Amino acid sequence: MENYKKITNFIKDIYKKDFIALHEPVFIGNEKKYLNECIDSTFVSSVGKYVDKFEEMLADYVGSKYAVAVSNGTSALFVALKLVGVKEGDEVITQPLTFVATANAISYCGAKPVFVDVDLDTLGLSPKSLKEFLEKNCEIIDNKCINKTTGKIIKACVPMHTFGHPTKIDEIKEICDKWHIELVEDAAESLGSFYKNKHTGTFGKVGIFSFNGNKIITAGGGGVIVTDDEELAKKAKHLTTTAKIPHPYEYIHDEVGYNFRMPNINAALLVAQMENLDKFLENKRELAEKYGEFFDSIGIKFIKEPKNAKSNYWLNAIKLYNKKQRDEFLEYSNKNKVMTRPIWRLMNKLPMYNNCQRDELKNAEYLEERIVNIPSGVVL
Ligand SMILES: Cc1ncc(COP(=O)(O)O)c(C=O)c1O
Repeated sequence: MENYKKITNFIKDIYKKDFIALHEPVFIGNEKKYLNECIDSTFVSSVGKYVDKFEEMLADYVGSKYAVAVSNGTSALFVALKLVGVKEGDEVITQPLTFVATANAISYCGAKPVFVDVDLDTLGLSPKSLKEFLEKNCEIIDNKCINKTTGKIIKACVPMHTFGHPTKIDEIKEICDKWHIELVEDAAESLGSFYKNKHTGTFGKVGIFSFNGNKIITAGGGGVIVTDDEELAKKAKHLTTTAKIPHPYEYIHDEVGYNFRMPNINAALLVAQMENLDKFLENKRELAEKYGEFFDSIGIKFIKEPKNAKSNYWLNAIKLYNKKQRDEFLEYSNKNKVMTRPIWRLMNKLPMYNNCQRDELKNAEYLEERIVNIPSGVVL
């Protein structure tokens, strides 16, 4: 109890507010100016200069050739999986410790998730567990990875960079390449995070980011698909804009497309947010350093960026000793107006995914009982 009070007071001291949210957006730049421009020009919807401008800025920032802005991270991930050819009846490997959107996007394709464990140091998909799972359960037939238990094709693998901490993505890529599995990165949480100096989300054939209200930069709601493949980028734009054949006035669509366009007004917000991204990253790194020192001093584990990685420290996390302590701290901090929350319930425990194949999930289960997220928004 003594420690719970110390932590809560420490956080209150940093933010100096009555109620401290987990991650509030910050609008300190050109947001209002650009939004007003949209309104004055009447270009508030899916056509307008800010969508193109944002796509250019984002691609440039992450070092990807193409970026396609969409309505949210979930739709981005769904389309990314379709782009690499995930079809009804396929299987897709992912981690059980993730936000539900990762598994849902797989389901929207008519595919089934297969859950493989995470590493304790990155909280992301473990290359070692992935390799062992494939060696034990799969074989390659006609350049396809076949799951011997189900007879299905394992078409793709979706690692997720948990809370912005990069997972060992180069090792995962190597394994996926060897097993003819397409790598799609769920980088929803990791804008501004690099692994071995390469931006997360750019290791696989396709990657995605989210700009939901709680992310490091926000469009209110929004997402983006990134790729270096020109054909896939064109296909992504086409599919997410109702598959309409460009024409000044005719309405002809050549397949079942989706209305996943990002409105200009959301893109305007994002352009202004991108202009401040480096400032946000610096501020969040300072906060993480403060947290790191404080938690070291009271003997509680603060999750730090893994080896070879530069994290955006999107959502800070601590690891408590057991579930009882976790629950007591959640109760105490929330009651005292410091918002904290446990890590997600594991995907394989949710009713819609509890019949999916899973490997031994020792680390994910250990973390599920102990990890708590603490306030992480930019400190003004
Ligand atoms: C890991 C992960 N994947 C996907 C998403 C989905 O993004 P969105 O909320 O923009 O649909 C989120 C966040 O919300 C996320 O944290």
